[in-house]
Amino acid sequence: MFAVSAARTDEKDPLAGLEAGERPEPEAPEGWTTVTVRAASLNHHDLWTLRGVGISQDRLPIVLGCDAAGVDEDGNEVVVHAVIGDPAAGGGDETLDPRRSLLSERYDGTLAERVAVPRRNLVPKPAALSFEEAACLPTAWLTAYRMLFDKAGLEPGATVLVQGASGGVATALVALGRAGGYRMWVTGRSEEKRARAVELGADAAFEPGARLPERVDAVMETVGQATWAHSLKSLRPGGRIVVSGATSGSVPPADLSRVFFLQLSVVGSTMGTRDQLARLLTFCEQTGVRPEIDRVLPLVEAREGFAAMDRGELFGKIVFTP
Ligand SMILES: NC(=O)c1ccc[n+]([C@@H]2O[C@H](COP(=O)([O-])OP(=O)(O)OC[C@H]3O[C@@H](n4cnc5c(N)ncnc54)[C@H](OP(=O)(O)O)[C@@H]3O)[C@@H](O)[C@H]2O)c1
Repeated sequence: MFAVSAARTDEKDPLAGLEAGERPEPEAPEGWTTVTVRAASLNHHDLWTLRGVGISQDRLPIVLGCDAAGVDEDGNEVVVHAVIGDPAAGGGDETLDPRRSLLSERYDGTLAERVAVPRRNLVPKPAALSFEEAACLPTAWLTAYRMLFDKAGLEPGATVLVQGASGGVATALVALGRAGGYRMWVTGRSEEKRARAVELGADAAFEPGARLPERVDAVMETVGQATWAHSLKSLRPGGRIVVSGATSGSVPPADLSRVFFLQLSVVGSTMGTRDQLARLLTFCEQTGVRPEIDRVLPLVEAREGFAAMDRGELFGKIVFTP
C-alpha cells in the first residue's frame, strides 16, 4: 500500500528523512482491526518524529500520522483515537498509562491507505462531519478540548489567552472556546494570522509579548520558550497556565517568584481519552463548530504539507486524502 514514512531522522532538516512509497500491508494482531483511511491530518508531532524527538531509531522506518477517519472492516464510518494505551494501567485514563504511545511512535501511523489499530480506539464518526473534518480531531482538537474543558477549570465567561494564532491546536482552542462561552484572546506572529484568528472567532488578537487590556483567567500554551514569560505576566492572581506543547523550546526561565507570589497554577495536558474524543465529536455535532482546514492535499503530495508546516505557513489543519 502507499504510505508516507519517516525513514531517517534529522534534527535540522526534518524533510530529508520523509519517504513516500510502497509499504507492507498492516497486520492486525488479536484485538486490533484495520481501517481504510479516507482522510488523515498532519500534526507538529509528525515533524518532531522526523527531527528524532519521541521516536527510537529501532522503530524506523515507520509510517507517520496520528490522525485518521475512515471505514472499518464492517463498513462503519469511524474516527481513530490515536492514543494506544490501557485505561486500567492509567487509573481509568489511557493518557496516564506509563506505557502508552501515539500512533506512529511504536506502531505504524495513519498517513497510509490502511492502518491497524486496537478495536477500542474506533469511535463512530457522526454523519454531520466529513471525513476531512473528522480527521482533524484526534490530536490537535482533542488536546485543545482537554486543555480547555478538563484542565483549565474555567466557567463560561472567563477570559482565555491562546499563545499562537494559526496552529492546529491554537485554531481548535479559539473555535472550541468561543463555542463554550469564553472570551478568547490570541497572540499571532503576523498581521495576517491575527486577522484570520479574529475571523475564526477570537475576540481580540495581539502581537507576541503585547501588554493586554487586562489580565486573563487562563493561558493556553503550546509555544513554550518564546511565549512563556508573557504567559506568566498575562495571568491574573490565582490564574492557570495549561501547557501541552513547547514548539520553540522547553526550558524557559520559570520565574518562580511570580508563580508563588501570585499563586499561579501550571498544569500539563496531553491528548485526551477515547471518551473525550467521543464527546468532542458530539460537541462539534451539537454546536456546528468545524475544524479550520488550511488545505486538503492528495497523500502523494504530502511533502508540500510538511514543508508548509515546517515554515509556519499555514492556518489551521492540513489534511491528506489517500
Ligand atoms: N501534548 C500533546 O498531547 C500535544 C498534542 C498536540 C500538539 N502538541 C504540541 O503543541 C505544539 C503545537 O502543535 P500544532 O500541531 O498545533 O503545531 P502547528 O500547527 O505547527 O502550530 C504551531 C503554532 O506555534 C505558534 N508559534 C508561535 N511562536 C512560535 C515560535 N517562535 N516558533 C514556532 N511556533 C510558534 C504558531 O503561531 P503563529 O500563528 O504566530 O505562527 C502556531 O500557532 C507542538 O509542539 C506539538 O507537538 C502536543
